[in-house]
Formats: sequence, structure tokens, C-alpha cells
Amino acid sequence: MQNNEEVLLKVEHLCQYFGSGQFVTKAVDDVSFDIKKGEVFGLVGESGCGKTTTGRSIIRLYDITSGNVYFKGIRTCAGTGAYRKNILEAKKEYKAKIDAASDAAEKDRLKKELDAYVAEQKKELKVASYDQKNCDKDYQLQQAAAVKAKYLPLLEKASGAEKAQLQAQYKDELRKAKKTRLTTQIQMIFQDPIASLDPRMTVREIIAEGLVIQGERNQEVIDKKVYEMLELVGLVREHAGRYPHEFSGGQRQRIGVARAIIMNPDLIIADEPVSALDVSIQAQVINLLNELREKFGLTILFIAHDLSVVKYFSDRIGVMYFGKMVELASSDELFAHPLHPYTRSLLSAIPLPDPEYEKKRKRIVYNPLAEHDYSVDKPSLREVSPGHFVQCNEAEYQEILKQLNK
Ligand SMILES: Nc1ncnc2c1ncn2[C@@H]1O[C@H](COP(=O)(O)OP(=O)(O)OP(=O)(O)O)[C@@H](O)[C@H]1O
Ligand SMILES: [Mg+2]
Repeated sequence: MQNNEEVLLKVEHLCQYFGSGQFVTKAVDDVSFDIKKGEVFGLVGESGCGKTTTGRSIIRLYDITSGNVYFKGIRTCAGTGAYRKNILEAKKEYKAKIDAASDAAEKDRLKKELDAYVAEQKKELKVASYDQKNCDKDYQLQQAAAVKAKYLPLLEKASGAEKAQLQAQYKDELRKAKKTRLTTQIQMIFQDPIASLDPRMTVREIIAEGLVIQGERNQEVIDKKVYEMLELVGLVREHAGRYPHEFSGGQRQRIGVARAIIMNPDLIIADEPVSALDVSIQAQVINLLNELREKFGLTILFIAHDLSVVKYFSDRIGVMYFGKMVELASSDELFAHPLHPYTRSLLSAIPLPDPEYEKKRKRIVYNPLAEHDYSVDKPSLREVSPGHFVQCNEAEYQEILKQLNK
């Protein structure tokens, strides 16, 4: 369950578009949510709605189109698209205004106004690019400052042998602080356990890769850690020398988990870690994630395409449809009061082991064109009750409030 209210990850107006011009795919379009420390956040939606793209954007596999991602309060992703768009639009708007203005003084004033706006947007754009590139460096500075703040007063008071010991500790921690990287503290378990493991690498090499990249050279330390991880995920030491094709799907998924956990991450993005597996193995992998979560206080972004998988595992759930977040609420609230028609449709698809219920169960089909009229009144994500957000326009919002107050 949720430990506290500290926000670990904040996703703000995330957009990830592919292609350009006429052929642009808005894989993720203005998605915002946050994940608190210790929480499991479920992200659900049908195939192609942008769940994986959201995860991959957060771990910086893409340069996002626009929006921001903050991890531990530091901006790790910053899209520049919005600023560029603002500049283009302002130029167009002001050109029309300037052409229409009659006297020279007015034209001059408008031009100056435009220049000031463009300069401000360019500045924001520069800061965004800088932040995206330097988030690891900023984090290292922050960590080093924290170590200094902890040790310097202690060192001042200490003397003799105690001081020497403290000095050594201080140096060691400072060295570590300067080497830690913020971005490796988010790890992803990829959707496809076959494609995400290099077939030419042994399991040992796959699991240890992150450590090696981070600069660990001591083979003994690496082996020890790899064995520890293998045991943790329910595999055995002897598996370390084998290649991925020698494993079953469930075992491969466990290798993916071990590869993520070895980096000692704070946040794990588990992208449909169980959908390729059969039901009994699904339960095993979910139990494993649950255990790890309790053991290491992990925070998890759990991606799935059907609600039944995330129901018991997630504290809060976000429902995505065609690149947009259409509903976001706590797990219990979402199941008790689903408000968006797409969420209702997803819920109606869940079979229950109850013949009476199954006889009566009606599958609700979601047809956005028939459900909403967004031609004039545009939708946005609105909070309809504390912590419960629904994508709706003003008319729908009023309707929902009426329903809830009944
Ligand atoms: N690298 C890419 N280039 C172009 N289009 C892409 C790329 N990656 C994803 N897309 C498109 O973005 C949309 C969202 O894809 P995404 O993989 O995020 O969906 P998903 O919700 O994870 O689906 P699934 O449940 O099938 O895994 C799809 O229409 C897809 O075709
Ligand atoms: Mg996916």
C-alpha cells in the first residue's frame, strides 16, 4: 500500500508524436499523472493506446515531443515541441495583427511585444534542453551537497581516530554520490521477453550489463550480485551460464525482472510483464513483483491491457484511450464508480467465475463518435471528486456532478 504522499514521478502534459506533417501519430497526447513513493500505479488501455510509449518516454528512450517528466523533483525529460509551436503560432497571430494595424507606432508596439514573447519562449526552450541533458549532473551535485551537509559538522566536532574514520566514510560517500545517476534509478521490464533479451549474451551478461556500464569491474562482485538476483527471482545459479532461448517465457520474464532489480531502482516500469504468460505463471510473476515491492519499497508503474490484472495489484489506475488519459482514480473508486464510457466498456469485458452473472453480462461497446459531441465544447481531464479525474467537456462534467450528488 501507499507509504506516504511524497511524489516520486510526475508526468506533466506528456506528448510523444511519431512522424510528421500529415502522417503524424499522436501516440501519447497530453498525458499527466503522478506516482507517489511506494505506490503501484496501473496504466491500462487497449492495444496501441500509447502505454508502452509512455513508459519508454519516461525512461528517455525517446526525446519527447513536449511536456515534462520530473523524477525525485528533478526534470529528467523536457520536450521542446510546445515552445516551438508557441513561437510559430505567435508569429502567425502577430503577423495578422501587424498587417491589420494602421499606424506605425502601433505596428512597432506589436513587433516589440512579439519579440519579447519569442525571446521568453526561446529562453524556456534553452532551459528545457539544458535540464534534459544535465539531470544526472544536477542530481550528483544535490547528492554531494547532502553528504557534505551531513559530514562536515560531524568532522568539525570529532577528533583523533574517530575523525580519521569519519573522514574515510565521508570520502567514500562523496565518491559514491558523485557517481550515482538519477536516470538508472528507473528501470523497465520490457513487454516482449523474447525480443528484449539479446540472444547472444548469457544470462549472467544480461543481468550484469547495467552494473558493468556503471563501472563495476570486479568479476567476483558481479557474480555474487547476479547469483543473488537469480535466487531472488526464483531461478538458480546454474542458469547464469545459459542463453535466453534455453528458457521458458515465464523464466525469461524473470530474467527481465532480475536485470531491472540489480540496478537497485526506485521505480520499476513493468510493461505488461504477464500478458504473454499463462494464468498460473502470471500469478507467480505478480507475486514476485509484490514480494520485491515489499522487500525494497519499490514503486511500480504497472502497464496492462486489461483491468482484471491490475485490480488487486494497483493502488491507483489510469485508463488510456488513443493517446489520452480518459480516467484516473484509486483502484477501488474506479471499480465502484467507473464514469468514462470507455472504462465502463473495459469493465464489462471482465468475465467472472459466476454462471448467473455471466448469463446476464452485457458487453458494452465504446463508440466515441456516438458517445461524445466534442465539436464545440472541448474535453479536458477534470477532477469530479477528490482524486477521481475524468476526461470530459463542460456539459458532461455537469452531468457527472449531478449523477454523483444523487
Ligand atoms: N517507434 C515508433 N514509430 C512510429 N509509431 C510508433 C512507434 N512506437 C509506437 N508507435 C505507434 O504509437 C501508438 C502507440 O503504441 P504503443 O506501443 O505505445 O501502444 P501500447 O498501448 O503499448 O499497445 P500494446 O498493448 O499493443 O502494447 C501505436 O499506434 C503505434 O503504432
Ligand atoms: Mg505496449
